[in-house]
Amino acid sequence: MTTGLDIRNVTKYYGEGDNRIAALDNVSITVNPGEFVAVVGPSGSGKSTFLSIAGALLKASEGDVRINGKEISKLSDRDLSAIRLEEVGFIMQSSNLVPYLDVLDQLLIVKRMSGKVKAADKAAAVKLLEELGLGAKLKSFPEELSGGEKQRTAIARSLINDPNVILADEPTASLDTKRAHEVVRLIAQEVKTRRKAAVMVTHDERMLEYCDKVYRMEDGKLTLSREASRAHVTV
Ligand SMILES: Nc1ncnc2c1ncn2[C@@H]1O[C@H](COP(=O)(O)OP(=O)(O)OP(=O)(O)O)[C@@H](O)[C@H]1O
Ligand SMILES: [Mg+2]
Repeated sequence: MTTGLDIRNVTKYYGEGDNRIAALDNVSITVNPGEFVAVVGPSGSGKSTFLSIAGALLKASEGDVRINGKEISKLSDRDLSAIRLEEVGFIMQSSNLVPYLDVLDQLLIVKRMSGKVKAADKAAAVKLLEELGLGAKLKSFPEELSGGEKQRTAIARSLINDPNVILADEPTASLDTKRAHEVVRLIAQEVKTRRKAAVMVTHDERMLEYCDKVYRMEDGKLTLSREASRAHVTV
């Protein structure tokens, strides 16, 4: 089965009649397992719209979206929810943590949504959080965490169901340079060691060194801007 992300000739319109705008205009991209792709481009160019469609949060007006080989327009609502929950990991600009849950429960609630939480699930969540340097923060609440810790919690949450596709929208927006590098290095590591297909929207040029390819979005059109040389980067 084909894994990763395959988007063919996707167009997305918002609004109707005279108010209709094409937020995405015939966008095509393939992201293979183990590939970390960046999307850059001006505000309003369609980047978030693209990620929402790639993660099955939003329907394309035209074109095909395949997540792990499944054409999502053909799926029932139930199958779509399952894909969002199990096959796609989202990392958003603000970490969107639930204020009244501690770090461990932020991960377990995701497990709970896709079934019953078993002892092994809890052990896996603890292990993942330890890997991301949050072993001492399992019982902390979001307001007790630094920006980088919140974002690492959000990364852990996006990985807990072991999705094949990772989509990150400005994951470093609220972080200082050091934390930003840490967070993106972590995503890159996950992509490489666990063979994820990942797309990161970023305004931050310094983060592009971790990516295999850089695409540019402009007026809803997506073009390959460069195939990055990662030779000097160790993750
Ligand atoms: N729900 C919506 N309804 C109508 N228009 C929308 C909607 N969401 C986005 N748009 C419009 O679609 C275009 C693309 O928006 P999008 O959020 O994808 O841009 P972006 O590249 O993510 O911008 P930014 O860098 O500011 O986050 C913009 O013109 C925006 O105003
Ligand atoms: Mg956006």
